[in-house]
Amino acid sequence: MARAVDGSAAVPLFGNTFWSTRQRDANALHEVSYRACFKPALPRFFIQRLCPAGGRVHDPFLGRGTTALEAALLGRIPSGVDANPLSKVLLEPRLMPPTEAAIAARLDELELDADAEVLDDLEVFFHPRTLRAIGALRAHFLRAEASGTLDATDRWLRMVTVNRLTGHSPGFLSVYTMPPNQAVSIATQRKLNARRGQTPPERDVRAVLLRKSRSLLSDCDEALRSRLRAIASDTRLVTGSSAHRPEIADGSVDLVVTSPPFLDIVQYRADNWLRCWFCGIDPDATAIAELRRIEAWTELMTAVLRDLRRMLTPNGAIAFEVGEVRSGTVRLEEHVLACGVRAGLVPHAVIVQDHEFTKTANCWGVSNNARGTNTNRVVLLGR
Ligand SMILES: C[S@@+](CC[C@H](N)C(=O)[O-])C[C@H]1O[C@@H](n2cnc3c(N)ncnc32)[C@H](O)[C@@H]1O
Repeated sequence: MARAVDGSAAVPLFGNTFWSTRQRDANALHEVSYRACFKPALPRFFIQRLCPAGGRVHDPFLGRGTTALEAALLGRIPSGVDANPLSKVLLEPRLMPPTEAAIAARLDELELDADAEVLDDLEVFFHPRTLRAIGALRAHFLRAEASGTLDATDRWLRMVTVNRLTGHSPGFLSVYTMPPNQAVSIATQRKLNARRGQTPPERDVRAVLLRKSRSLLSDCDEALRSRLRAIASDTRLVTGSSAHRPEIADGSVDLVVTSPPFLDIVQYRADNWLRCWFCGIDPDATAIAELRRIEAWTELMTAVLRDLRRMLTPNGAIAFEVGEVRSGTVRLEEHVLACGVRAGLVPHAVIVQDHEFTKTANCWGVSNNARGTNTNRVVLLGR
């Protein structure tokens, strides 16, 4: 099967179950939630085939950093960009994981009963004493960041706290709410509490943070720590828009694996409001794109692809993952192909990972794909 691009040669389309879709088929360090993240098996598939050992893997839309972390775990050098500073908060500490002993010692040192400012009305999520501890942690991280003393252990604990803020089980600091990557508004949580007849229970903040740390570190030993340390100084993580990133040198990237914001499907600002508050980030001051019109979206993607072309080595490749949006009425992969051609790239293939593929035989327009829930569509481009 093939798709024509801009009247030029047809681009081959491959559909199959190419990579594992099992939840836990990856290093536990990946286990932090983020809206619209892909599974580590997706970047792994391309990294293992298209990037030499020690080569550079770049992601212009890092999110939680799935591509960057998987690249580092596979002995490649990661780099990447995200408009939201939250991305670095989530990724950096997992590229430099401290030991459980260091984390436990820091938790013992931290004063969790200190007075600190918190947002009004957060008691809808948290017991007053839990909220006091969250405020104390937040003040500590902000102070340490401002004075340049935020070390790897603090960064780790900030990342874990961000991930434990809200969720639907006692493993989180909040009362029952939405999963942690989709913080609901205060008004919605108030209604949820009334409907469920719930008030936020007190949590043992140290125990919650230590338990999650232990789980994240369950596949991490000293050998891995020292492999990660060896590439740390070459890792480049940038906060800002991906449209033009001169920090990443010409001809320095062997492979790009990425997934851009999909039109207006995910509200990265609204979903991350509580996490951003905790980290002292103003989401409205970022370059996060939530583009409703396809014209504005393709303009941004063409600029990004042009800049990625500049970064690529002569044999470099780009794997650009998109979903089907608006119930299949917009096939973003076709727009990406056109943007790629406009950016001077050569389209190689469209790869459709369909979990049901072997059962359905035909990947285009079949009803079980209509909402784009179980496919990954990857456009492969080269220089
Ligand atoms: C689909 S998510 C990426 C998810 C990522 N693949 C992962 O596994 O976590 C898209 C990301 O693009 C970021 N973003 C939105 N507009 C951007 C822009 N103009 N430049 C760079 N990043 C942007 C969002 O903050 C979001 O983290």
